[in-house]
Amino acid sequence: MNSFLTIAMPKGRIFEEAVELLRKANFQLPPEFDDSRKLILEVEEENLRFILAKPMDVVTYVEHGVADIGIAGKDVMLEEERDVYELLDLKISACYLAVAGLPDTTLSDVAPRVASKYPNVASGYFREQGEQVEIIKLNGSIELAPLIGLAELIVDIVSTGQTLKENGLVEYARIADVTSRLVANPVSYRIKEQRITEIVERLTPVIESLKR
Ligand code: PRP
Repeated sequence: MNSFLTIAMPKGRIFEEAVELLRKANFQLPPEFDDSRKLILEVEEENLRFILAKPMDVVTYVEHGVADIGIAGKDVMLEEERDVYELLDLKISACYLAVAGLPDTTLSDVAPRVASKYPNVASGYFREQGEQVEIIKLNGSIELAPLIGLAELIVDIVSTGQTLKENGLVEYARIADVTSRLVANPVSYRIKEQRITEIVERLTPVIESLKR
């Protein structure tokens, strides 16, 4: 008898790609997955319970063990050191973290202000560059900051580049490539290793076949 497993899924734009990947790996996910507002969805046939969390919170649920495994962006893993195992690069939701700002931004002698949803990634990057900056934490719409004079630069996710373009911003540096990862709670991984390995083995050939 398969043990019951809880998977934390990121709501929002990663969700669709994650569901598509799971379906391609033959996980029987009911149609209500696509349009339900429910936050907990059980799939008895697979002995799986899905919890739908904010992308930034997936690792929190996994770290605390209320979810055995989860799908989390590498951006979140880079931002927060969490006690979770990274099992698999799912190669979905590819994007990257970049430094951007208005064109011809010249940095004065005083520490430039950098707005970001990723304060640790941002400060780590500028520290490595030997530049002193002031980090301003925002929770979204980061591109607004240089437009309105809150910051000279931003560190944010770039996917299609459309948001930068439409707001007249340019990219100054690429910090790190980002894709979604399958992560596991270390205790769950020990106790439910067979079950979790089975999921990794079901997903691996699908990821290989989808290699872009
Ligand atoms: C993300 C990111 C950028 C945008 C990049 O924001 O923070 O703003 O997407 O995508 P693009 O390169 O395809 O335009 P998201 O839509 O997740 O919302 P947020 O601004 O509230 O973080």
